[in-house]
Amino acid sequence: MTQDTLGLDATPIAMAHGANSRKVFIKTYGCQMNVYDSLRMSDALAKDGYVQTEDMGEADLVLLNTCHIREKAAEKVYSALGRLRDMKKLREEEGREFVIGVAGCVAQAEGEEILRRAPAVDVVIGPQTYHRLPQALARVRDGERVIETDYAVEDKFEHLPVAEKAKLRSRGVTAFLTVQEGCDKFCTFCVVPYTRGSEVSRPVSQILDEAMKLVDAGVREITLLGQNVNAWRSTGPKGEEWGLAELLYRLAEIPGLARLRYTTSHPRDMDDRLIEAHRELRALMPYLHLPVQAGSDRILKAMNRRHTGEEYLRLIERIRTARPDIAMSGDFIVGFPGETDQDFEDTLAIVEAVKYAQAFSFKYSTRPGTPGADLTDQVPEDVKAERLERLQARLLKQQNDFAQSLVGKTMDVLLEKPGRMPGQLIGRSPWLQSVNLDAKNMKIGDIIHVRITATGPNSLFAEVA
Ligand code: 5AD
Ligand code: SF4
Repeated sequence: MTQDTLGLDATPIAMAHGANSRKVFIKTYGCQMNVYDSLRMSDALAKDGYVQTEDMGEADLVLLNTCHIREKAAEKVYSALGRLRDMKKLREEEGREFVIGVAGCVAQAEGEEILRRAPAVDVVIGPQTYHRLPQALARVRDGERVIETDYAVEDKFEHLPVAEKAKLRSRGVTAFLTVQEGCDKFCTFCVVPYTRGSEVSRPVSQILDEAMKLVDAGVREITLLGQNVNAWRSTGPKGEEWGLAELLYRLAEIPGLARLRYTTSHPRDMDDRLIEAHRELRALMPYLHLPVQAGSDRILKAMNRRHTGEEYLRLIERIRTARPDIAMSGDFIVGFPGETDQDFEDTLAIVEAVKYAQAFSFKYSTRPGTPGADLTDQVPEDVKAERLERLQARLLKQQNDFAQSLVGKTMDVLLEKPGRMPGQLIGRSPWLQSVNLDAKNMKIGDIIHVRITATGPNSLFAEVA
């Protein structure tokens, strides 16, 4: 999935304050799935009497929902824990409760080690056991330091409450919905198969039920989430096998649900039915995040991606034949062990051939326990930095070119939130861009037809068409 790729870094989630209840501050690092998980944890805690706060100073419980994808992401957690330790000391002097919890992928990957390195931590809880959070906190209150990182035998989603309508409504008109978790692909650089476990798909009925609750609370756009979302497989109502395409067709039938997206996909799971869905389904937005990671066949093989650069390009051609206006997004890693200048040129060649509307690129970061960590021919940091800079310059140029190509064009925009100026609203284009416009007599949740007038640094400007 697209860890860190939305720039959703350490975002506290705003919620109402209660008077006498306990308060939780949740800090979310990493990918969209963590954003979704934080909401689900907040809902589980609400049942337990906690209200969410944006102010860490008034929290009785601080929960870090962590990311392990690159070393830097994991290290951030330990520096945050250092600051929390000092805070806890002050609180204890005042005789006030202050519980520190670590959730997410660092919790799963490092478990016990967190309790050793950070003695102030009270609870470590992995992504598969979030439904046990209330019990874990009860044990903490009984004086235990709790670690919950086993893969639960029960389905956590069966035990995690969905928030009531008013609370869902307060979260806006777009929503994430996890349909699949885990990964069986074992790319040699990646920790996900170890932190999120093997591929598991949520059943159709659970997904439909949650989607309908979201739509009932005003949600107009749902993004289906999964580390390998297009590997989602389950059984349809007549016992037939469903893939992601069938699920999308079914979701598109929900009245009021106008837009569907899904992320992140693996090129190997992009089947004909799914490509066909991009041709046929109006609700399916013309935007696809399909990481290639690298362009050289030698490096792709060393990464265990199990496809070539050519195969990736042919796949994109088929997708674009089905849906000519589709915008492509991708992830790239530079400086994988053994990457030569020529290998890197092959990555640039893929970028030139695809023309990405959006992309995320990273220096290779050695992750303990992955096969990549045992490779000896590591690329020096300065070479990685130089390659990343060149790659990002190209990707940024393509992103700007894409935005520029939309000026003068008309499109539908889903109005999402108030803009900076009175009377302004911010909407979302089919291609996931923010669109600013003066929107009189319109409300959040409306889909309106606009003409793009100009581009800004990270957004578009539009007038009603
Ligand atoms: N080093 C650098 N980037 C990585 N990613 C995954 N693992 C690593 C790593 N060890 C990137 C990939 C993936 C994205 C979510 O993070 O590009 O698609
Ligand atoms: Fe990681 Fe590869 Fe699985 Fe994506 S497909 S989560 S990059 S192992």
